[in-house]
Amino acid sequence: MKILVAVDPSDTVFLPVSKAADIAKKEGAELTLLTVAEAEEDMNNYLDGNIIERLREQATKTLDAAAAVARGAGVTPKIELETGLSPEEYIVDTAKDGGFDLIVTGTRGKKGVRRLLLGSVASKVVTLASCSVLVVR
Ligand SMILES: Nc1ncnc2c1ncn2[C@@H]1O[C@H](COP(=O)(O)OP(=O)(O)O)[C@@H](O)[C@H]1O
Ligand SMILES: [Mg+2]
Repeated sequence: MKILVAVDPSDTVFLPVSKAADIAKKEGAELTLLTVAEAEEDMNNYLDGNIIERLREQATKTLDAAAAVARGAGVTPKIELETGLSPEEYIVDTAKDGGFDLIVTGTRGKKGVRRLLLGSVASKVVTLASCSVLVVR
């Protein structure tokens, strides 16, 4: 079994990661943490290498912290960092191409629209994924 956790680059608490690590531990599954360093659509300097570098640094720190949470639950995860405008596409494509059995996401980002019960990336992953999706609350 292969489990893919989508980790929001601005996350500081990693509930989906610890839930996924618990499942991976029980099932003897392989665990991968994927973060997409996400450029804002209105960021007109998107092609500026410095901005991309800063986004990737932030995402790397987030992934390191998330990996520590998984190791704390007894699982050593693989780590993947991507850069792009459509996190949902990377998440869904990585799951499909890598033969993953389960995608695990959270419900909302910190900066998302508060009235939405399920964030835009998470709802697109639920809709577009070809495997099962666990949304952790
Ligand atoms: N850039 C990203 N990289 C990886 N996973 C992401 C990314 N953005 C969102 N996710 C996943 O989607 C979940 C919900 O976030 P999101 O849908 O972006 O909510 P919001 O619309 O409130 O920002 C996150 O907990 C994470 O699992
Ligand atoms: Mg978001």
